[in-house]
Amino acid sequence: MIKDFIDTNRFTKQELLDIIELSLAIKKAIKNGYYPPLMKDKTLGMIFQQSSTRTRVSFETAMSQMGGHAQYLGPGMIQLGGHETIGDTGKVLSKLVDIVMARVITHSTVEELAESCSIPVINGMSDYNHPTQEIGDLCTIAEHLPQGKRLEDCKVVFVGDATQVCASLAFITTKLGMHFVQYGPKTHQLGETHRAILDANCSLSGGSYEISDDRNSVKGADFIYTDVWYGLYENEMPKEERVRVFHDYQVNRELMQLGSIGCKFLHCLPATRGEEVTDEVLDSESSLCWEQAGNRLTAMRGLLVYFTRCRKGHSELQIAAAKEELDRFLCCRIFK
Ligand code: CP
Repeated sequence: MIKDFIDTNRFTKQELLDIIELSLAIKKAIKNGYYPPLMKDKTLGMIFQQSSTRTRVSFETAMSQMGGHAQYLGPGMIQLGGHETIGDTGKVLSKLVDIVMARVITHSTVEELAESCSIPVINGMSDYNHPTQEIGDLCTIAEHLPQGKRLEDCKVVFVGDATQVCASLAFITTKLGMHFVQYGPKTHQLGETHRAILDANCSLSGGSYEISDDRNSVKGADFIYTDVWYGLYENEMPKEERVRVFHDYQVNRELMQLGSIGCKFLHCLPATRGEEVTDEVLDSESSLCWEQAGNRLTAMRGLLVYFTRCRKGHSELQIAAAKEELDRFLCCRIFK
C-alpha cells in the first residue's frame, strides 16, 4: 500500500473509489449519531506554509470527531524553512506524531517531506495539485449524480484558469473514467505534462478530456466548476489583467444555461464574487459549493482513516501487560 497521499495519479481507480466510499460511509455513521473513534490516541501534525480556512478546519475537526488530536503548525511556527532541512523535520515529526499533512508553496517540499517521514504524509495543496479537494469534490458529485447516470457518464467542465484545482479535477475525473473539459483561454490551459497524464488515465479508464477555448465545449455539462482567475501565491495577476484575460470565462446565468438540465455548479472556494462567478450563480439552487466545503470534512475523515489503517494495533493482551508493568513501576518506584 502507498504510504502517502500526494497525487491521485499514483492510485488506481478502485483505490480512489475505496477512499471515496470510506469517506461517505463515515459521513453516514456520523449523521446517524455514531462518531467512530478511528483516530483515538492519534495525533496529526498540520504544516501550513500558507493560510487556509477549509483545509485547516476540516482536518482539525476530523481528528477531534474521531477521537484524535491535531496540531496546527502554521507559517513561521516550526523550524521548517528556517535552518532545519525538510528531511530533518520529517524525521523528527515521525517520532512525535502519527500522520502529517502539509500545505506547501512548492510541490517538491511535500514530496521531500513524504520521503523523509516514516509516517503517512497527506498533501494539503501545493502549486501542482490539491488532491484532498478532489476526494471531497468526488464525494459531492457522487451524492448529486444526475438521475440515471453513473460517475462514468458525467461530463464535468472546469471553466477558467489552469489552477492546481483544475489540474486535480482533470486528474481524478479521467482516472475514474469520467468526461472532463477545461474551457479556458489558450494562454491559461493545462499544458503538455498534464495532457500526457490525462492521456494515460483515459486509456486505462475509458474516460475522455478536452481542453478548449470554444464556448461550445461547455454544452451538456452535468457539473460546471470554477476557481479564482489569478494564480495563487507569487503568480497572482493584477485585477485589470485578469479581467482582460478571463472576462469571457465568468460563470454566470448564460454560461450555466449551456449545461444539461439540472446542471450543478461547483467551486472549491474561496471565491472572488463578481469575477469568476456571479453572486446569482454562487447563491443559486444549482450551487453545491457550500455542501462541497462541508465535504472537505467528509474527505479528511476518510483519508485520515485510510492512511493510518495499516498501522499495527495492539492486542488486548499486550495492552493489559503494558498497564500491569507500568502500574508495578509506579507503585514500587514512584509512589512507594
Ligand atoms: N479550497 C481550499 O483548499 O480552501 P482553503 O484554502 O481555505 O483551505
